[in-house]
Amino acid sequence: MSFKSEINKRRTFGIISHPDAGKTTLTEKLLLFGGAIQTAGAVKSNKIKKTATSDFMEIEKQRGISVATSVMAFEYKNFLVNILDTPGHKDFAEDTYRTLTAVDSVILVIDCVKGVEEQTRKLMEVCRMRHTPVIVFVNKMDREGRDSFDLLEEIEKELSISVRPLSWPINKGKDFKGVYLLYNNSLNLFESNKTKLSDEVIKIENINDPSLPEIIGKKNTEKLKEDVTTINELFEPFDISLYSEGYLAPVFFGSAVNNFGVKELLDTFVEIAPHPQPRPTNLRNVNPEDKNFSGFVFKIHANIDPKHRDRIAFLRVCSGKFERNKFYHHVRLNKQYRFNNPYNFLAQSKNVIDEAFPGDVIGLYDTGNFKIGDTLTEGENFMYKGIPSFSPELFKEVINTDPMKSKQLEKGIEQLTDEGVAQLFAQQPGNRKIIGTVGELQFEVIQHRLKNEYNASCIFNHLNYYKACWMTGNQQKIDEFCRFRQKDIVYDKDNNKVFLAQTSFVLQMAKSNNPDIVFHDTSDFKLEAV
Ligand code: G4P
Repeated sequence: MSFKSEINKRRTFGIISHPDAGKTTLTEKLLLFGGAIQTAGAVKSNKIKKTATSDFMEIEKQRGISVATSVMAFEYKNFLVNILDTPGHKDFAEDTYRTLTAVDSVILVIDCVKGVEEQTRKLMEVCRMRHTPVIVFVNKMDREGRDSFDLLEEIEKELSISVRPLSWPINKGKDFKGVYLLYNNSLNLFESNKTKLSDEVIKIENINDPSLPEIIGKKNTEKLKEDVTTINELFEPFDISLYSEGYLAPVFFGSAVNNFGVKELLDTFVEIAPHPQPRPTNLRNVNPEDKNFSGFVFKIHANIDPKHRDRIAFLRVCSGKFERNKFYHHVRLNKQYRFNNPYNFLAQSKNVIDEAFPGDVIGLYDTGNFKIGDTLTEGENFMYKGIPSFSPELFKEVINTDPMKSKQLEKGIEQLTDEGVAQLFAQQPGNRKIIGTVGELQFEVIQHRLKNEYNASCIFNHLNYYKACWMTGNQQKIDEFCRFRQKDIVYDKDNNKVFLAQTSFVLQMAKSNNPDIVFHDTSDFKLEAV
């Protein structure tokens, strides 16, 4: 197969949702259709229960399972589908944001009863920043959900994206009859069946087909006709270029747990979702078809065995062909590395691979050389962009409780923050270490892993900060501001000055008193400016 065909057959995407909307269930059903798993239930739920209790077994399980299910690749028709898993728990949201930098599109799952929820909004914000194409799957149609038109209106308003239904539900809840596929005039009739693998659709001429009342009943036919007329009045025809640019989301309705509506979703997805796209670097946009290999690390995972401190770096191949045992240039460290045992994640097992193509995600064993965002090339000195650090929401000072183990603690904190578990800031004088996270759970994870993997112990001292802000603008003014606010100025891992604001009021005041300084709450200013 030619290099170009290898690229064109790949579909690398993520499934995102608010916890409980059905992301895990939908992932599993897609894997069933793709033949990657044989039975439902094979993908373990990898979410930590929302109660956020200190159940370390759960955390350990999460770590273990999420290595295995971080990337799930399968072949479907003539396509190679790579699903990148995103943790549902909100405390791990940053992990999800980073994973979204490695996908070419997403499927957004919405619970038809609950509609747009908090995490849905945040995740979509990241997609909008990057113009990621989105397909919406409205799930749980077997439940008494909200009115479908109201839902679409809510999605458009709250997520600032235009929508276009491609399937339309006939009733809902206990009267749910199935969906009408607007793009090819066929009916997919609902039956509650968790293992069925084919959606047999009934082809009809059009919405006025005389056989329709016999199939779905007179009343449902009338309602469906009315709905279709309204859809055609309200929505423009589906325009694939608007979808590809991230402005228009096609919408499907179904019930993941019943395997219903999933096949048409997958069939449409492989047809319309983009193949690997060019990606921005600090020098230029790099095209997947470029001859030279390049890629970036978007996730680092500690090995499950705590005795071995080696880690797995997940690298998204962006251009050229990756080859085993070939030397590549680690841009940040300016060093050459080669990889003996790179692997992929086909059908949920790890296989050592000899080559990989743009769109693929490969696992590289790492002994501490990689940080999130690192770029590998064949020699060129560019770095992939768009892996922002978002401002943490919780800040705590690290207090060493075992002075004999300061070295271990330092190393542990350094490595865990390289993995992206949390952000590390240093405050001078005294090199005070401050950890920032988006959720309490990370502090528990850090404490637990420091003890188990580094034999170091610490406690955390809560600090009253609201947001971390990176600054750009007039350098003299920034320096003055930092001198004046010295006690609230810290340094991030790349030695950027960061202002820690105690309250939103303080931040507001800082902004209005310092018009020559721009305060950013992500570290990637370019991305924010898009
Ligand atoms: P998540 O990954 O987005 O957090 O959601 P997950 O797939 O785990 O689904 C959350 C719950 O919603 C699960 O029930 C799941 O069975 C249920 N669910 C998923 N799709 C549908 C659907 O189409 N209809 C209905 N009625 N329910 C659906 P649970 O009780 O939390 O777990 P389980 O014991 O069923 O696994």
